[in-house]
Amino acid sequence: MLIVANWKENPLSAKEAEAIISEMPQREDVVVCPPHPFLYLGEKVTLGAQDCSAKMEGSFTGEVSAGMLKSLGCRYVIIGHSERRALGEDKETVDKKIEMALSAEITPIVCISSVEEIPLEKKIIIAYEPLSAIGTGNAYPFSEAKKKRKEIGEDVTVLYGGSVDEENVSEYIDAGFDGVLVGGASLDPLKFNQIIKRCDQKN
Ligand code: PGA
Repeated sequence: MLIVANWKENPLSAKEAEAIISEMPQREDVVVCPPHPFLYLGEKVTLGAQDCSAKMEGSFTGEVSAGMLKSLGCRYVIIGHSERRALGEDKETVDKKIEMALSAEITPIVCISSVEEIPLEKKIIIAYEPLSAIGTGNAYPFSEAKKKRKEIGEDVTVLYGGSVDEENVSEYIDAGFDGVLVGGASLDPLKFNQIIKRCDQKN
């Protein structure tokens, strides 16, 4: 089981980030993905990043490479989140980023919202995130989630993401997912630790 916290573009200050991260458990199976500037705070947690560059190094202003993330201790990187695809990130770029992450020995967590987006590369974790459920509080129907889990295939680790909270997480685990990618609720340590507890009860 893998439980991943995706903080997105939150919180606003290092002080707040420090307060949240201090409440996060130090566990192999709980991954915290803060924004890049706060990665340095994640010494004690299993660390992930929210994106990486499609290039390893060079004249690419503003980009952060998988190699840099590795040197900061990141073990995972989220790639192809729908919020990035909405900004114009295409399949080719997503594939390139996966390649960069793997070459830096970081495990890519590739977000998809349809089975057409499943990459060919097999050494990845997939996060299935239906668009209607991301950041909306509208939980995706469990029966639909279960069908999607089957469709994606048993040979890959698949997380569920989209309005996961302490009330619904158990249902997604029961639907066959290998863990969850948590956005909003991961910024509230109380809620996030409840989610972890519910997952532990399913283990
Ligand atoms: P949410 O975000 O839990 O706030 O819906 C999940 C995600 O987009 O990764």
